[in-house]
Amino acid sequence: MNSFGNIFRITLYGESHGKEIGVVVDGCPAGIPLSENDLLPDIERRKTGGHATSTRTESDIPEIRSGIYRGHTTGTPIIIIFKNENFCDEDYQFDGFFRPGHADYTAYRKYNGYNNPLGGGQFSGRMTLPLVAAGCIAKKIIPTTEISAHILPECLANIEKAIASNDSAGGIVECRIRNLEAGIGEPFFDSLESLISHAIFSIPGAKAIEFGNGIASASMLGSEYNDCIVSSDGKTATNNCGGINGGISNGNDVVFRTYFHPTPSIAKKQKTFNFNTMQVEDLKINGRHDTCFALRTPVIVEALTAIALADLTLISKATKL
Ligand SMILES: Cc1cc2nc3c(=O)[nH]c(=O)nc-3n(C[C@H](O)[C@H](O)[C@H](O)COP(=O)(O)O)c2cc1C
Repeated sequence: MNSFGNIFRITLYGESHGKEIGVVVDGCPAGIPLSENDLLPDIERRKTGGHATSTRTESDIPEIRSGIYRGHTTGTPIIIIFKNENFCDEDYQFDGFFRPGHADYTAYRKYNGYNNPLGGGQFSGRMTLPLVAAGCIAKKIIPTTEISAHILPECLANIEKAIASNDSAGGIVECRIRNLEAGIGEPFFDSLESLISHAIFSIPGAKAIEFGNGIASASMLGSEYNDCIVSSDGKTATNNCGGINGGISNGNDVVFRTYFHPTPSIAKKQKTFNFNTMQVEDLKINGRHDTCFALRTPVIVEALTAIALADLTLISKATKL
């Protein structure tokens, strides 16, 4: 669905080339200082314009339409909107083709062709802008918890190769959560890993996630894997489990990596089915696309992580004596 969260609940709306995109944030406690300016630093980090990113520039100016009074949240739904100002509908006339790797075909099938395909519609990376704004509010609910994500440098080598050959590249983003108290995460289906993953997979292009030593832990021995406790606050000598046991934070850093696939829209020729001619033909995609959209995702990963943590923290408070 278009909503996520139990107590801290966000609802996302809009399309890449529609009039506006936005988010409704419900369940935010009253009395939190909030203004549009608070959202700007993270919005800036998500913008295009850096190396290997799209040339579509948007002002990305947030407008908070409701839920604040005299600089504080009121406890009622907060609505944040962003206008779409710079779009090129002509770039999305594919004459019978659906872009390989994108959601054009699946959205067409799901919505019987009534979906708005321009700019990828609801499946566009642009939809992550309101998510970043909601993430800023979530971060205020967990002010002592630090969330920081960055792209792993080894991914960067592919980008120059991709640029030189009209191709695209993917990337891995590592996220570390510091100062998260022990005890956050719910049994059974709302474990910390489940809710973080649920939130992270809403980022278009996220294809895999691993916590701590993740995939590598399957080939370790128990004596190598177990994180032994070394002090009364639960600190461990190693952190192979990525700070989570039984779906609950253990008070050590939570560490996870998100794997993003390469940008689907590439100018390099691809052979794919043309539904007008009913034949496999060459497709060359023009338009403004990120060569490596993963470069723009660390702040988005932080936002979705904050949203999941804010919700779980409010649940934890609501269920404690
Ligand atoms: C910030 C961001 C920017 C993106 N930019 C592009 C882009 O310029 N061109 C493109 O084809 N896909 C882009 N994507 C990826 C598509 O949105 C995504 O591949 C598509 O929605 C299909 O979803 P899936 O990859 O999760 O299956 C971007 C994703 C993000 C998060």
